[in-house]
Amino acid sequence: MRCSAVVLAAGKGSRMNSDKLKQYMELNGYPLLYYSLLAFEKSRVDEIVLVTGEGEEGYCRAKIIEKYQFHKVKKIVPGGGERYLSVYQGLLAVNDTDIVLIHDGARPFLDQKIIERTICAAEQFGSGVAAMPVKDTIKIADEDQFVLQTPDRSRLWMMQTPQTFSYSKIRAAYEKIVAKGQSVTDDAMAMELAFGEKVKLVEGSYRNIKVTTQEDWAIAEVFCQRRNSKKK
Ligand code: CTP
Ligand code: MG
Repeated sequence: MRCSAVVLAAGKGSRMNSDKLKQYMELNGYPLLYYSLLAFEKSRVDEIVLVTGEGEEGYCRAKIIEKYQFHKVKKIVPGGGERYLSVYQGLLAVNDTDIVLIHDGARPFLDQKIIERTICAAEQFGSGVAAMPVKDTIKIADEDQFVLQTPDRSRLWMMQTPQTFSYSKIRAAYEKIVAKGQSVTDDAMAMELAFGEKVKLVEGSYRNIKVTTQEDWAIAEVFCQRRNSKKK
C-alpha cells in the first residue's frame, strides 16, 4: 500500500510565548520540526507533504529539508488560519495514495512503532489514530465553572497524532466539512462529523507529547537529555 504523511507546521505557537516560532526553535541542537520529519523519513512512508506558514516555504526548504537531506519531502505548501484548514491544504497536495498519516510537527517524540500501529489499523479498519488513556479525572463544566458531569474515566482518551486514514475517505471528509464551514480540532472528528464513522484508536505513547507551552519545552529537553545519556 502507498503511504503519504502530511506534517503540519503552519501554526503560530501562541501558547509558547516565544520570539521565534516553536516549530523552528532548536531542541537539543535541531529544529523541533526536524524530529517528526526524521521519523517519517526513516519509516515506510513514500512521500511527505510539509505544511508551513505562508512565506516560510523557502526557509523550511533551505534550513531543514535540504540541510538535513529529507528526500521524502516532495512538497512544501502553505497552510491556513486553523489547523483543519492546514490539513485540508496538505491533503490537496498529496499525490494519489492509499493511506495518509496526518501528524502535528509539534510532536517530536513519535516513533516507528506508533507509525506502524496506525498504518496497520488504517489498512484493516480504514483508520488508526494514536491515543492514550487520560490520567486525570476530567469534568464537564458550565460557563460559570460549576461542574456538570464527570465522564467515566475508563472511556476517556487523549488524542495524539499520527491520525491515519484511507486517503480517499479522509479527503472526502475534509471536502465535506470545509464546504459546510464546520471546524474540527482533530482529524478523527472530521470522519465523525462527515460520515458518522467509527474511528479506530491505537496505542500512542505518553512520550508523544505536543510541545505547546514553555512547560512542555522543558519536558521535551529532559526527554532529549535522557536519550543522549543512554547513547553514551
Ligand atoms: N497547525 C497548522 N496550522 C494552523 C494551526 C496549527 O499547521 N493554522 C499545526 C501546528 O503547527 C502544530 C499542530 O498543528 O504542529 C498542532 O497545533 P498547536 O500545538 O495548537 O500549535 P499552534 O497552533 O502553533 O500553537 P497555538 O495553538 O499555541 O498557537
Ligand atoms: Mg493551535
